[in-house]
Amino acid sequence: MLDRPHPTPAAPTLDPFALAKALSGYHFIGGGYVPGRNGKTFAVVNPATGQEVARAAEGDAADVDAAVQTAAKAQKEWAKVPARKRGALVHQCAALLKEHQEELARLIALETGKALRTESRVEAGVVADIFEFFGGLGSELKGESVPFAPNVLSVTVREPLGVVGAIIPWNVPMLLMALKVAPALVAGNTVVVKSAEEAPLAVLRICELMNRVLPPGCFNILSGFGPECGAPLVEHPKVRKVTFTGSVETGKIVARAAADKLIPVTLELGGKSPMIVFADCDFEKTVSGALTSMRFTRQGQSCTAASRIYVERPIFDKFVQAMKSAVDKMVMGDPLDEKTDIGTIVSEGQLEKVRGFIEEGTRTSGATAHVCSAMPSDPALKKGLFIQPVIFTGLTKESRLVREEIFGPVTVIAPFDDPEAVLAEANDSEYGLAASLWTNNLKVGLDLAHRLEAGLVQINQNLVVQANLSYGGVKSSGLGKEASLEAMLEHFTHKKTIMVNMG
Ligand code: NAI
Ligand code: MG
Repeated sequence: MLDRPHPTPAAPTLDPFALAKALSGYHFIGGGYVPGRNGKTFAVVNPATGQEVARAAEGDAADVDAAVQTAAKAQKEWAKVPARKRGALVHQCAALLKEHQEELARLIALETGKALRTESRVEAGVVADIFEFFGGLGSELKGESVPFAPNVLSVTVREPLGVVGAIIPWNVPMLLMALKVAPALVAGNTVVVKSAEEAPLAVLRICELMNRVLPPGCFNILSGFGPECGAPLVEHPKVRKVTFTGSVETGKIVARAAADKLIPVTLELGGKSPMIVFADCDFEKTVSGALTSMRFTRQGQSCTAASRIYVERPIFDKFVQAMKSAVDKMVMGDPLDEKTDIGTIVSEGQLEKVRGFIEEGTRTSGATAHVCSAMPSDPALKKGLFIQPVIFTGLTKESRLVREEIFGPVTVIAPFDDPEAVLAEANDSEYGLAASLWTNNLKVGLDLAHRLEAGLVQINQNLVVQANLSYGGVKSSGLGKEASLEAMLEHFTHKKTIMVNMG
């Protein structure tokens, strides 16, 4: 459906540097690439080298208005497309994204520093899966018939909300965008996304690819900064729903602005997810589970990272040693190199934040910092934002490292003796996103699973978010659910009641 010439190749390209250049300076509005109205751009930097790889359009309120007006016009027509047909088009997008999986993986690795083999390729695969899943749900937008009176036909129908404003972060931007855009579109809404300033490129390319299938104006994307571009999107009168993933602080700003307009808002915010390990666990499986739970391959930049690990005392020392030697074996290096397990931190700002936590932990009396793996030796990477993963022991529950979201490769391991005490400690947190329990005693596991304050609890595994499972936190971790049929129905439609009096 693309109706304008494009600076990017239509076929998949495996040169992320050339693609990044081609994507420079544009938003995507109404079926085509458009430069920002103010002409301003900002740098997109390869965090592995510190080199600028592209310039992104620095959107402002005028760009937001253009995108939202276009989306609002397109929504009137999109809502008339039969739901199954909308789903089929979204399904077609999934197929196209699959063809471009390797391209998208390389591009996201370039702009975020996430290792290609262990992270970026996985993310690009999951993105296609999410669009495929929601593409099949068109005919699930069903209503009910209500037994009101024999002569009155009373039914409910699910209607789209209108234009959805989606604000996304940089840690898994393609995946988190897909969780918002796929259900919004299938439900008959149109979307304007504001990408994260650290990672504007891969999501822009996804928008272009999907616009090869979708009618123009259904899916638009802007790059820019939070206050200048994100805030006007939330505040725009024609945006009828906002979905946000990011920090608690910004989430509250977004929720306040949404409250002023009385529009629904979904928030997926931070976490400080506990992992509880019992002595009767399957030891090897649990150590390897701790590595994936902590998302060391993503430098711990995950809202569900197992950043508080509680281990039953009899296996505590053995567990710390096993974890340290497993992380030691992980290779830090160029994100685009197939040998690399761990890439970089996304930005200087985030690196400083993580360093601050590590310094504070190291200074704490009684604490031990087990510094793992090794910095890359390649001189080309000497300006890269690498940092060695750290496992802390000996910190008390008052420590900021135990209470706050670090969003870096830093985890704290503490011993426990009593399941009730560890449950209380796990729940003593501002957050409530995810948790995992590792034990072969499923009676104890299930009992604790019911009493943990978290949106997602897993026993003997810790999978990342799945398209068909409802996902979202309690307490400061957020509001509402993402993924699953439930999220599409509850958060991207409203229920209208229609009554017919037949006399
Ligand atoms: P952030 O919450 O400030 O940014 C997320 C998105 O919100 C970005 O697109 C940003 O441009 C936008 N934004 C910022 N201010 C806004 C405003 N006033 N109105 C509308 N949109 C606005 O998060 P940031 O600064 O990238 O990271 C800070 C911390 O947040 C991280 O260290 C981490 O702890 C947490 N975080 C949590 C994430 C999660 O998955 N839940 C993802 C990213 C960050
Ligand atoms: Mg911020």
